[in-house]
This record gives sequence, C-alpha cells and structure tokens, in this order.
Amino acid sequence: MVETLHLWRNGRIACCDASMTRFEQGAILTRGRRIEWVGPERERPGEYRPDESHDLQGAWVTPGLIDCHTHLVFAGSRAAEYAERLRGRSYAQIARAGGGILATMRAVRAASEQQLFDESLPRLEALLAEGVTTVEIKSGYGLTLEDEAKMLRVARSLAHALPVTISTTLLAAHALPPEYAGRADAYIDVIGREWLPRLRAEGLVDAVDIFCDNVGFSTEQAETLFESAARAGVPVKLHAEQLSNQGASLLAARRGALSCDHLEHSGTAEAQALAAAGTVAVLLPVAFFCLGETRKPPVTALRAAGADMAIATDCNPGSAPGSSLLLAMSMATRLFGLTCEEALAGVTRNAARALGLQEERGTLAAGKAADFIVWSIGELEELGYWTGFNPCRSVVKAGRRVS
Ligand code: NIG
Ligand code: FE
Repeated sequence: MVETLHLWRNGRIACCDASMTRFEQGAILTRGRRIEWVGPERERPGEYRPDESHDLQGAWVTPGLIDCHTHLVFAGSRAAEYAERLRGRSYAQIARAGGGILATMRAVRAASEQQLFDESLPRLEALLAEGVTTVEIKSGYGLTLEDEAKMLRVARSLAHALPVTISTTLLAAHALPPEYAGRADAYIDVIGREWLPRLRAEGLVDAVDIFCDNVGFSTEQAETLFESAARAGVPVKLHAEQLSNQGASLLAARRGALSCDHLEHSGTAEAQALAAAGTVAVLLPVAFFCLGETRKPPVTALRAAGADMAIATDCNPGSAPGSSLLLAMSMATRLFGLTCEEALAGVTRNAARALGLQEERGTLAAGKAADFIVWSIGELEELGYWTGFNPCRSVVKAGRRVS
C-alpha cells in the first residue's frame, strides 16, 4: 500500500536538532507516520508530488513535546499532606511516618484498573492539549507484583485511548512496602529476580528506575537492581540527589543510565560524570517548587560539562501535583536558569534521549515520527515564557492532525 504524501507548508519550523535549526519559510513532507523531508519550502525536491497540502499560515512548528518523567498513573490526591507541609512538616517526615508514597500505594491498591484509568486519563489529556505527544509513565505505587502490573497495564492502555506514545518504567523500588518492612535487600532481590523478568516478558516495561535517597533505597541496592536490569536487557534510570547525596549520579554514570533525575543535591563532579557518560540530566522544577526547596541542581556545571539537560513534569500526587510541561519549562528557565533554547531542547531532543527514543523522536528530520505541534506564538521564546497559558494551536500525531 502506498501511503498518502502530505505537505505541511508555510511554517516557521524549529527542528530542535543539535544546532537548533530553524526554517523561516519551511515545509514538512510526511508519509504515513513518518517525516519524509523537512526544509526550506523553496528547496523542496521536485520528485515529491503531495496528495494533500496543509497551510500552516506562518505559524511556529516544533516536534511533539516529550514529558520524560511522570508518575501520572495514580489514584486519589495528597492535598491534606500538602496542607501539613505548608504548616511546616517536611516531605521526609511525612514519608517516614508512613504517609507520602505509601499513602498513594494504599489508594492505588484499593483502586480497580478501570478507576485508575479513569483518574489518570484527564492528566494525560492535559499534557496532550499542550502539545505533549510522548510521555513516560512510571509504576511505583503498587509495590506488589500484581499492583505494579495493574499500573503498567493502565499506562499501556492510555496509549490506546489517546494519540500519545507511552514509554513505561518499572519503579517498584520507589518505597519499601509494608510486606517487606526491615527487608529492603530482599525486596530489591524479588524485583530484580522475579518481577522485572515477568513484567518485561508481558511487554509492560521499557526501563527500570529506583528512588535512591535517604528516604528511598541505597546506592548498593540500586547497583543490585541495575545488575538484574542488565541481565534482562532493560535500560535504567534513577531518581538521584533529590533530598540528599548518596552517590547515585556517579553510579548512574558508571552504569550508563539513560537519565539521572532531580539532582538538586549534586555538584560539579556529578555533572562531569553524567556528561562523560552521556546520561541525560532530567530537571524537575515543579517538584523543587512544590516541596519549597532552595537548593538547585548544578545547571552551570551541567552546561559547562556539556551534559544534556531535559525537563519533565514529574506529575505525581506528592511532590509535583500537576500536568503542565509548559509550566515546567517556564519554571526551569526562571528557577533553574535555563535559557529558552535549553528549555525547548529539554522537552524535545534531550527528553527523547532520556527515554532512549532519539532515533525516532525529539527532532524534526527525515525518518523521524511525524509528531509535531503548531503554536499560536509570535516568537519561539514564548515556549518557556507563559506561565499557565497554553498557546498550542494544533497537534499532528503520527502524520494525522488530531486537534
Ligand atoms: O519524583 N522522589 C520520589 N518520587 C516522586 C514523588 C512521589 C510521591 O511523592 O508520590 C518524585 O518526586
Ligand atoms: Fe519522580
């Protein structure tokens, strides 16, 4: 079957490649789900005879945005805990007292698969409305084999409900469940030995993550889990240096992790190690903001070392109750000091790398997925500028206009 050739012309195209190429009078040719050609309109090769033509009316076009770190599948809210935190109780204190992640674990275990789906769908809809066409979703609130599987199945089924590509991450090592109280090593062991191979075989796991911190797991436990992931052929990522420095980033770099996320408590040595390893530094400014943190990730050192920085929402009921990647971009610029260009690369090219999807998505280039966004903006810098305003005009997903 010969697929229809679509021409999307008269756009200002931001390819978001390493040199941040822009075509002022640009065009994109798509065939089926892929980009066939992109470039200045006047250089469009004559051999292409488009079946359909779409006028972009001079609008800015970027790749579909990528939210590379979310815990979007969950049940309930933790607004009461937030109120407690406003009264001075810390996130770590609440976690140690059995609240926090374990509070959401109880809600997720009690929820049916359908309830979990119904509660999670609006959060994904909100991301899609902002031009997010690829989303990573972590498990980590089930903490039994069955409940982690339930979360991951919901994540997969969301990809059938909406035109969004979902990448799933097994984060069973998010908190120690009550069944394993005092036996953290045994818990890590069962995840690596039993749960990961089974869930991977069911097609539910694209990567493995672990919360490595003083209220999470140790670097030794992360190392053990990473060995299991290596045996199962699954890439790894890490929640590192959010609340303290346990040496997690250095471990992530040594193990060639796809990404190392949070990083408020890391410094120059960690930045250099991540850059040298090609591990993406994922910044999560909404969590920084909502936890009222003051210590920032080492952006200057990451930049100087040449590390790739990505930005994500961290959408979760505890530290980052929200579903706006545009707001995360704005916070990354104002709170962490990223430039608008870095913020845009952080939700496109670098976010794709954080998921190991850089061959398929994250930039506009021949052969890549035909996922792109048409924006109602006059200047590209408006992405990362507006706070709580959504200038997304239209979403093209896999070559089809879906909004
Ligand atoms: O990325 N740090 C651990 N995990 C989440 C918080 C999850 C929660 O509080 O429910 C985070 O901030
Ligand atoms: Fe997280």
